[in-house]
Parts: sequence; C-alpha cells; structure tokens
Amino acid sequence: MEKAWWKESVIYQIYPRSFCDSNGDGVGDLNGIRSKLDYLQKLGINVIWLSPIYKSPNDDNGYDISDYQDIMDDFGTMEDFDALLKEAHEHGIKIVMDLVVNHTSDEHKWFVESRSSKDNPKRDYYIWREPKNGKEPNNWGSCFSGSAWEYDEKTNMYYLHCFSKKQPDLNWDNEKVRDEVFSMMDWWCKKGIDGFRMDVISMISKVPGLPDGNQSEGALYGDLSNTTNGPKVHDYLQEMRKQVLSKYDLITVGECAGVTIDEAKKYANLDGSELNMVFQFEHTSLDYENGGKWTTKRFNLPELKENLSKWQYELEGKAWNSLYWDNHDQPRIVSRLGDDSSLSAKCIATVLHMMKGTPYIYQGEELGMTNYPFRTIDDCRDIEILNAYKELVGGGYMTAEELMAGVRAKGRDNARTPMQWDKSHEAGFTTGTPWIKVNPNYTFINAKDELADEYSVFYFYQKLIGLRRKSEWSEVIVYGDYELLDKDDENVFSFTRSYGDRKLLVICNLSDRIIDYTLPLDVKEKACLISNYESSELSDEMFLRQWFAGVWEIE
Ligand code: GLC
Repeated sequence: MEKAWWKESVIYQIYPRSFCDSNGDGVGDLNGIRSKLDYLQKLGINVIWLSPIYKSPNDDNGYDISDYQDIMDDFGTMEDFDALLKEAHEHGIKIVMDLVVNHTSDEHKWFVESRSSKDNPKRDYYIWREPKNGKEPNNWGSCFSGSAWEYDEKTNMYYLHCFSKKQPDLNWDNEKVRDEVFSMMDWWCKKGIDGFRMDVISMISKVPGLPDGNQSEGALYGDLSNTTNGPKVHDYLQEMRKQVLSKYDLITVGECAGVTIDEAKKYANLDGSELNMVFQFEHTSLDYENGGKWTTKRFNLPELKENLSKWQYELEGKAWNSLYWDNHDQPRIVSRLGDDSSLSAKCIATVLHMMKGTPYIYQGEELGMTNYPFRTIDDCRDIEILNAYKELVGGGYMTAEELMAGVRAKGRDNARTPMQWDKSHEAGFTTGTPWIKVNPNYTFINAKDELADEYSVFYFYQKLIGLRRKSEWSEVIVYGDYELLDKDDENVFSFTRSYGDRKLLVICNLSDRIIDYTLPLDVKEKACLISNYESSELSDEMFLRQWFAGVWEIE
C-alpha cells in the first residue's frame, strides 16, 4: 500500500457558525477560529475542514453560496481568512475548504442572470424545464421537503433545486459551468489551501431526460436516484483532477449521497484518477425507518458492524475509506450510539479511530458533546427540520410530538449548538446571544474542565490521535489490514489490525451492561495501547465492564 500524508491525517471539522464568536454578535467567525488554534494543536489533529465560509444569504447556513471568492459577512473578511490560513500552517495544521458546486445560491450572479430571460448567456448554467401538463417537469422531491422544482413566473419555466428553492442546481453538462468551477478552485489552491471536501458531489450528473425517480407507496415525491452517481460524474471528476487537483498536493473527499461500494471504488480509486476518499451514508442510515430519518430507532450492533466491516474489506487495496460518526448533518454519536456518558464517548471513539481510513472528528465530539433536548420547533433553526415540520406536521402525516422526538434523535441542529468552551456566559461561545441555544449541559461538559482533567474525553481523543499519528504503532493503525471478530455478538465490537508481523486487538463493549466475554483468539498480550478503564488485562475469559474499550498489541 502506497503511503500518503492524507492517509496518515486526522481531520477536525469546524462548523464556523457554532465554533467561537470573537465579536459578540452571536455567530461564530474566522477570528474565533484563529483564537482556538492552540487548542486544536493540543488535540493533535493536523487538518481542519471548514464548513462553508463564503458569501451567502444563509438559507442553508452557507451551503447556499452567492460568491465563491468572498467571505460571509458574519464570519469576517478575506484578510481574516488569509491570517487564519497562515496561522494554521504555522501550527502545523492544513485547511480543507468546503466546495459546494452542485448548486449555488439563487442570489449568485450567475443565477440572477440565468433567470432573467430565456436567451441570457447564463440560462444554461442551471437546469430549466418547461412545465409538464401544467405541472412540475418530473416527480423528484427535494431533500428539504416539497418538489425539487420551483416555478419561475418570469419565463414560465421551472428550475431544479435538489435542496432548498434558494439552492438551484448547476448544469454540469455545460462546459462553461465546469470551467468556471475549475478556475474558482484553482484560485483557492493558489492561495495555498490544502484540499476540498466536496458537497454532494455524487449529484452533479443528472440522468439525461430527467426521468421520474422511484416513488414508494405513500411517498409524496419520487427519490433523487436519477441525480446520484449519474452517467457523467466520473468523467467530470477526472476532468477536475486533470484541470486542477493534479497540479497541487491536496486532500480531497467527496460527500457521496447514495454511494455504493462499487461506485466508491471509482470515486476513491487508489490510482488517483478522481478523489482520495468518499463520505458514504450507509452506516448513518441504519437507524432510519422505512428510509425516513424522523424516528427514535437505535442502531442494531451486528448490523452496524457488518456494514462498517463491509467497507473495510471491500475497499482494501482498491480505494481509501473515510471514517466518521459525526458531522454538521448528523446527531451526536454519544447520544445516538452511546448513553451520553464520557465512558461511552471514549468507547465509541476507540472503534472509529482504530479502523482503517482517515478519521474525522466533528467539533465538540472530542468533549463528548451530546444531542440537545429540543422541546418545540421554536428551538430549531435548520431548514431541513423547519420544512419537514411544515410538510409532515402541517400535512397531518405526523404529530408535532412524533416529529420532535425524531428531531431530538436525528435532527441536524443537534450538531449545530454552540461549542462548549467553559462554564461562563453561553458556554464561553459568545458574549452576546447565540444564534441557536447552547446545550444546558455545558456546565459539566466543556473544554476548560476537560483540559484540567487527565481522564477526560478530550485527553482520550488526544491519545487516540497520537497513537495514529505519532507512535510506534502508527503504521499498523494507518496501514494494517482489518479483520472483524465475533460478528454476531450483540454487545461487543472487536477486531484486529495487522501489518507485517505486528498485530493489534481492539475490544469494545458497546453496551451499558457487564459482558462475560470469551476471547476469540489465542493470544499473548505484549502491551496495552489504550483503555478507558484502569485495569485492562487480556485473559481468555473477561468481564467487560460497561462501555469498556481496550487496544492491545498481541502475539
Ligand atoms: C450537504 C451538506 C448539507 C447541506 C447539503 C446541501 O449534504 O453537508 O449540510 O445542507 O449538502 O448543500
């Protein structure tokens, strides 16, 4: 396996709106991030992925961009960005930008021109269609509820928006669009950024003719299968590789809704023709019900193990995995898979950080930050939640209580409450009023307390990161082969990693019960690398305490 810095990295995602507010307006900003670089350096990560910081009317918190080469007013200025990039580099931290090019904002100048008339030169930058029998051109539903089509009176046509109606989809089949995107990317690369996280990049190529999506019984709209992994997506990414990516030493990860193993082998092929790795969504959909996310259903461990292991085995030697539990679109893993306790946070972290692939940590995950106890829809800010409420509760498909239970379990706002820095006013996030409420548990889950406690979740993450990045076991952890043990065990997630003649054994009890565990291998323990309990000796018969996690080098 060829070695590469991006395979050896640990990436930390910042959602700037909720990270640190330097000017008291209640919204996080670039100077806030600058003030926390020492903290991130101490944690030990070497790459930051910044969620979008570009000019935006904020219909979807910056994922609706109105100018790719300017900074959102809430977040600061281009000078602030340049200073952040420089200081991050001085801290040994690289910066990955979010690249949102499946769509723009409807306030982007390209769209303003495009919608102005049918013969505007930019008309074909977006996807316009005539009404069909006086209605939408097809049955596609938007990811944020409602139809994926918006009628525009001026020209009596519809435009496509797979997300909100303020996020019109770009037409990637138009060569001019691709050239504009590539030259914008090149401009950022010349500035010295270190990579791109590509937002819903699997959706840029639509099936010609835009045929109806599959519509299951009772569903209000058809799905977006004809916009995911479309016929030209790999051509376009290979073109992007040739025109831009190949000229720089970057890290690239594609957010690939609907990606299968076979598709991932193309997107993240080790031959380097497209991207370094993809974010897949199979494991984060295992606690959905009938395809829907507004449910309190929990993961079933054997299913979760099977899925994660499938990705480990099948990409081996062919493509590279990304490893994540949390991001700005997911509920907090310590609530989702754990029981909000710091022990469970450490146990769940051990599973992920001992697997093969590049791990991602989402802000606050390293503190064990939990889901938020949203009571009513007024507590929520996310467009996905607000639209779902209107459609599902408004339409009588769910009661408000049912939807709110789903929101507490799965809603994106769980990830977006402000970072909990200390016990002071608004958790030290802002001196003003935060744009979304701080989780009331900041009085006992916060960075300051954890930095003062050597047994905190923070230091556990620091240790996991250190083991991967800078220890005598680094090669095994980064490059070793993965093998799942005890696949049917309903409580324990155990596996080995082997590299040359070295081998690690990982055992994690993902339950709040004491488990009587028979070691599935005949082993001699050489060293315990890490554990969330003080006593962590291997023996043939073990009592695994609640949320126990241990990693050993074995013979
Ligand atoms: C991606 C982003 C999400 C955003 C959507 C539309 O899934 O992660 O936050 O809402 O794309 O850009």
